[in-house]
Amino acid sequence: MNKSIRKAVFPVAGLGTRFLPATKSIPKEMLTVVDRPILQHVVDEAHEAGIEHCVFVTGRNKAVIEDHFDTAYELEDVLLKRGKTQERQALLADLPKPGSMSFTRQQAPLGLGHAVWCARDIIGDEPFAVVLPDMLTMACGPKKERCLAQCVAAYEKHGGNIIAVEEVPPAETHKYGVVSVGKTYGDTFEITGMVEKPPQGSAPSNLIISGRYILSPEIFPILEKVAKGAGGEIQLTDAMKALAARQAFHGVRFDGSTYDCGSRLGFLGANVAFALANPDVAGEFRALLKSLVGKL
Ligand code: G1P
Repeated sequence: MNKSIRKAVFPVAGLGTRFLPATKSIPKEMLTVVDRPILQHVVDEAHEAGIEHCVFVTGRNKAVIEDHFDTAYELEDVLLKRGKTQERQALLADLPKPGSMSFTRQQAPLGLGHAVWCARDIIGDEPFAVVLPDMLTMACGPKKERCLAQCVAAYEKHGGNIIAVEEVPPAETHKYGVVSVGKTYGDTFEITGMVEKPPQGSAPSNLIISGRYILSPEIFPILEKVAKGAGGEIQLTDAMKALAARQAFHGVRFDGSTYDCGSRLGFLGANVAFALANPDVAGEFRALLKSLVGKL
């Protein structure tokens, strides 16, 4: 039987330069999509997928992330005294279990592979998930699973390593990691190759690595030695490619929508989509959106 996936790594050390000046003093992961920080949305997705322990690989000026997942004593006290029960309950409901979050720092921006490697001691010798907070996923219906849960389901079936993928227009593939497709079983397929940020026109498919992974711990010794790749950075994709020489990798086509909040357009799209799916604001927001669209 496959070992269960209990831990997830969230690389959150990036500077967020595309969102300056908003990210001058606020980590990009703390920008809000409707009423929750981006990072809270992806932690919710991880918890839904059965993750018990979240490992954040942070950097300088990211301390507010740790505060976000801690008790806010003064705030809770004021809400209690003012009778704001609903708001207080909402805060308490998001509070993680004691001891279920770890924080470690990536001291230099050496790449995603290096960030994941920084979590090696906290993960230990068990398979784990990697969740890239830039990519916000939304299930295709209220009862459907988000992306990481679909990856865990594929892992339970196939074992080995799993990568979520998403179709993009061919002109976009050079911005991402791209996989080659082998034998296909419904939404899942064998990955026969991968390449990080292929030059335009050279991608093996239009299926990009979309920010959710299940990896075996054998990735860590590879990450320690892997040479710098695309952009002069230590790339997770290069290490996975090396691991694929001896372990199976399956791709999962996510049945839902993904918004790349690493770009301003993706972030704006996420806000519109999540607002339309949020019962508190959807009705009024739809009317507002219609009136705005009418003016175009
Ligand atoms: C990283 C990965 C890439 C993946 C992308 C998804 O790239 O290296 O394979 O497709 O995330 O967002 P980055 O966005 O850090 O350049």
